[in-house]
Amino acid sequence: MRIVLVMAQTLDGRIARGPDDPVDWTEAADKAHFSALTRRLGLVFMGSSTFDAMGGPLPFRKNVVFTRFPERRPPSSEDLLFTSETVETVLERFAEAGYKEAALIGGGRLNGAFARAGRIDAVFVTLSPLFFGEGPTLFPEDIAMDLKLVDVSPLGENSLVLHYRVA
Ligand SMILES: NC(=O)c1ccc[n+]([C@@H]2O[C@H](COP(=O)([O-])OP(=O)(O)OC[C@H]3O[C@@H](n4cnc5c(N)ncnc54)[C@H](OP(=O)(O)O)[C@@H]3O)[C@@H](O)[C@H]2O)c1
Repeated sequence: MRIVLVMAQTLDGRIARGPDDPVDWTEAADKAHFSALTRRLGLVFMGSSTFDAMGGPLPFRKNVVFTRFPERRPPSSEDLLFTSETVETVLERFAEAGYKEAALIGGGRLNGAFARAGRIDAVFVTLSPLFFGEGPTLFPEDIAMDLKLVDVSPLGENSLVLHYRVA
């Protein structure tokens, strides 16, 4: 299964102002880009802090939330699943169910788990024209990935979308 990391960051590499803050600082055009891309992919993986910061599941997409404590969460439904399984097990399960692609939408800690498992195939990062000075980053630890640039496109008035594939 092809996993596409879809994230936004500031020019100084921050993905949020603080650990639990929502992503309410991107341009409207980035929200549209995120929505269109993740809807096309259909399946989204996220960490429980990202789910909490979003305040609920993304509509018209299958939401899979990684947490060590799925039993503390609301009951899963057809479009919202909480799991404590490993990245590999979850990906295997969805691949067996016929899924060919999925979006990984953060946060940094879950991104790190996917990167350590070698399961990120493509990256879309929106550069937003802001500096936060502090705050979490795309990955919380040293991650080695060899990236090849596929495309750079302006987005909205002041943002850029960088599209890389992982070599
Ligand atoms: N700029 C962007 O594009 C963007 C995108 C997404 C998120 N964010 C921001 O990033 C922040 C959250 O990021 P974060 O790194 O702190 O948290 P996160 O990755 O969203 O969630 C971390 C939590 O996910 C669960 N988790 C992570 N890896 C797991 C694994 N391998 N197995 C089982 N559970 C796992 C754990 O939940 P439990 O503690 O429940 O076990 C862990 O505490 C928020 O401020 C959010 O708004 C920004």
